[in-house]
Amino acid sequence: MVIDALKASELVENLDRGKPVNIAFFYPDQNVMKALNSLFAKVLSKMDLIYLLDTLVTIQREVIINAAKANAKRLYFLERGLDIANPEQYALGMSNFRNEIVGDLEQARDKLAKSGLKIRIRLQKTANGVLISVINNTPILPEELSRITMRMERARSYNDFSEAYEEVYDSTEGAGLGIVLVTLLLKNSGIGVESYSITSDGTSTKCDVMIPLEIRPREVTTNIKTEILRQVEGLPTFPKHIIELQRLCGDPDASIGEISKRIMIDPSITSDVLKLSNSAGFITSKRIEQVSDAVMTIGLKNLNAILTASSARQILDKRFSKFEQIWNHCNKTAFYARILAMKMRLPKIMESVFLTGLLHDLGKIVLLSTDLELTNWISEMVNNRKIRTSTIMEEVSLGISHSSIGELIARHWAFPEYLTESIRCHHSPLNAPNEYRDQVYITYLANMFCGVETRKYDYYYLEGEVLERYGIASIEDAQNLHDEIKGRYETDSRS
Ligand SMILES: [Fe+2]
Ligand SMILES: [Fe+2]
Repeated sequence: MVIDALKASELVENLDRGKPVNIAFFYPDQNVMKALNSLFAKVLSKMDLIYLLDTLVTIQREVIINAAKANAKRLYFLERGLDIANPEQYALGMSNFRNEIVGDLEQARDKLAKSGLKIRIRLQKTANGVLISVINNTPILPEELSRITMRMERARSYNDFSEAYEEVYDSTEGAGLGIVLVTLLLKNSGIGVESYSITSDGTSTKCDVMIPLEIRPREVTTNIKTEILRQVEGLPTFPKHIIELQRLCGDPDASIGEISKRIMIDPSITSDVLKLSNSAGFITSKRIEQVSDAVMTIGLKNLNAILTASSARQILDKRFSKFEQIWNHCNKTAFYARILAMKMRLPKIMESVFLTGLLHDLGKIVLLSTDLELTNWISEMVNNRKIRTSTIMEEVSLGISHSSIGELIARHWAFPEYLTESIRCHHSPLNAPNEYRDQVYITYLANMFCGVETRKYDYYYLEGEVLERYGIASIEDAQNLHDEIKGRYETDSRS
């Protein structure tokens, strides 16, 4: 290992021709996971199932980590001369293994590399779809297998993850939540629980997931989702004076004086216009204090974006709770998106990605207001389990993600299509329709860079296809680009 993007395309071609793809590694480090993600992305694109990417990556990540844990466990017993098949020695070995290794599997990495214990991934095309097998060199014990089967059985009865989370706190091998997550993802995505199996031949363990050609996702209904849909339906339209202002922005005969005067009637719009004009990376030598200066500096298209964002925020803040940190994050994302668009030589979309940045997380306001505790718990799970995106966890726990809530709000307010799509796809850029690919990718990248700063994401999470589109050849390149934009943001916010 490791496979690069070109090799991944070649492997997928082989797979399509009926040749199985085999990949082997000792330890699933970031490079391995990144390579697998781009391989899965290519396989799913070919199957026209790209929307399953995060689901598949999350399932496979759990499966692969478990395989690595099983190999580490076997090694641990071998090193200490403990017999894994002897119940007493097993209990003793396991309690030490849990304390010493499980929380920090990375420390077993070098030993695993030297041990010869491997993890193999095999992809095979079959008549019904693509079969993905994860095989490790350790036979699963009958007790372990029956415990997993039992947990899966139980997990099948849950409608959503929130139902499960109090019950599965007791997790003998830290695998309880993982199994519930995998089961619910299989069930809700339409891949199906029956597509998953674990078998052992006495020397190794194999975990199969079959991705069928035909998939029908399950509609998950939760009380929270029903409540959210009701709330979105009831959102008021934009106030008349804003609609009039937006019309003036597009009117070639309107004067800046007239527009500025109308802005100043609304104090919160005024404050947003001044604040965002001063902090969105517009080239100015001094602080903008006057609305008319702001309008002249940023131009009518950017002003229009601020009006849209500001009114949307006002309505949401009034209806739900005010989450200042979300809007601050959105302001930063908007800054990053504008500069990214400029750097990627996409001047035409600088104004549109400014707006997508400003509003991309509007669904989060609704989510946080509806159930703060659950939403926080979801973020915690996403961080702890290094899940690539919160979308998966939100869908599996609440039946709806903040991206989809955002999309619904955008449709309710008849936002332009590029904005609606950028909100919908800001965590799953590969789902973007072709005509809005740049707006979506730039919004995604800007948001990911912000997420890296809060340690929510890592550069290796970045979607290979997005990086390829902009010629970002390596993680170092991504980091340099990010550093440059961040530097500019910091200088601008100080001035
Ligand atoms: Fe988001
Ligand atoms: Fe965000």
